[in-house]
Amino acid sequence: MILLLSSAMHEEMPDNLYKILTIQRIIDEAEDFKTFIFNDGHQINYLPGQFLTLVHKTGAEEIRRSYSITSSPVLNEPLSIGVKRIANGFFSRKLVDTARVGDFILSTGAAGFFRLPENIHLYQTIFFFAAGSGIAPIYSLIKTVLHACPQIRIFLIYSNQSVQTTVFYSSLQQLESRFAENLHIHFLFSSISDLRRARLNRELLLEFLMMGRFDPDTTLFYTCGPPSYMRMIIFMLREQGFPGDHIKKEDFNPARAFKPRAIPPDTGTHYVNLELQGHSRRFSVIYPDTILKSAQKQKISLPYSCETGKCGSCALRCVSGEVWLSNNEVLTEKELKQGLILTCVGHPVNGDIVLQFEY
Ligand SMILES: Cc1cc2nc3c(=O)[nH]c(=O)nc-3n(C[C@H](O)[C@H](O)[C@H](O)COP(=O)(O)OP(=O)(O)OC[C@H]3O[C@@H](n4cnc5c(N)ncnc54)[C@H](O)[C@@H]3O)c2cc1C
Ligand code: FES
Repeated sequence: MILLLSSAMHEEMPDNLYKILTIQRIIDEAEDFKTFIFNDGHQINYLPGQFLTLVHKTGAEEIRRSYSITSSPVLNEPLSIGVKRIANGFFSRKLVDTARVGDFILSTGAAGFFRLPENIHLYQTIFFFAAGSGIAPIYSLIKTVLHACPQIRIFLIYSNQSVQTTVFYSSLQQLESRFAENLHIHFLFSSISDLRRARLNRELLLEFLMMGRFDPDTTLFYTCGPPSYMRMIIFMLREQGFPGDHIKKEDFNPARAFKPRAIPPDTGTHYVNLELQGHSRRFSVIYPDTILKSAQKQKISLPYSCETGKCGSCALRCVSGEVWLSNNEVLTEKELKQGLILTCVGHPVNGDIVLQFEY
């Protein structure tokens, strides 16, 4: 197993593809949920709300999973992730059940679009809707906004079964009393007898939106939880007139048996010119292979994680030509207009294309 690297393997890993992290501390946060703190996380640049992609390697085979970063870059905290144990889960059980302090973990670095906009200073309010382990990326975002954006009022609506299963329960309460003006938390527990407030529902959501006059132009929404929970929230927010570009979701749920929704309008063979740190590589994409699959066949290593258009790990910028996406659950209209594309679900159409790395 290479998730927990032996010292010999540690020496052999190529620097440019993977970062090797060492577990410095493990914290039991709640039932089946642990925080992993790394002591060499400074090698990874990240933004609040992003995730780390971890890699389990056996020979040429790789299994990748993403875990949201729970530390905040503005607080100088050591890099940390939060992991919930999934029954029968390959990766999460490896981490929660067997990982120990001092173990090495392989990562391809940080990625993701569940982050703050560059013009965050123009906003006045942020609503965060989290359910269960969906608090992981939101915890990093909340700590960052409280410290870096004092003009913003935050509302956290956080659903769990009970206090015992609520990740970061006391840390969040401490933050709420320290930043009493800026942070307002509503914990919802499905185990309580008042069914009206046990789960987030349409009426309760409307009640939260009536707590103040929230200007659609200066209010942001972030949600992370089960798909049906996020669907209900997004539907309601859109119905209330909040623009789609102000609503971000992070979907943890795997859809590995993924079927593209349609066939590209052009299935001809086209070339990709990939510009990477002063070098360029050219390869063909033959339908039904995606850009990512075609690069892998040419032994060109590109970033990826979910491979289903959900996480954003594989995003590159298309600076010339046109890319058709068979699925996109992560890039907003604005990001698409800026030329961002997802290689795992992307096919060049109507000619050749030029791609560049986003950062
Ligand atoms: C962008 C992104 C960020 C993520 N951040 C986090 C995070 O911060 N913390 C965290 O714990 N996880 C996070 N995840 C989920 C994580 O990447 C794994 O999918 C999860 O740990 C399960 O992997 P596994 O190998 O243990 O299970 P697998 O071996 O892949 O799956 C085993 C079984 O469990 C089911 N299953 C898998 N995931 C779930 C789930 N979430 N709920 C219910 N059933 C499931 C599968 O369908 C399968 O039947 C994130 C995922 C994405 C895409
Ligand atoms: S690898 Fe997740 S969106 Fe492409």
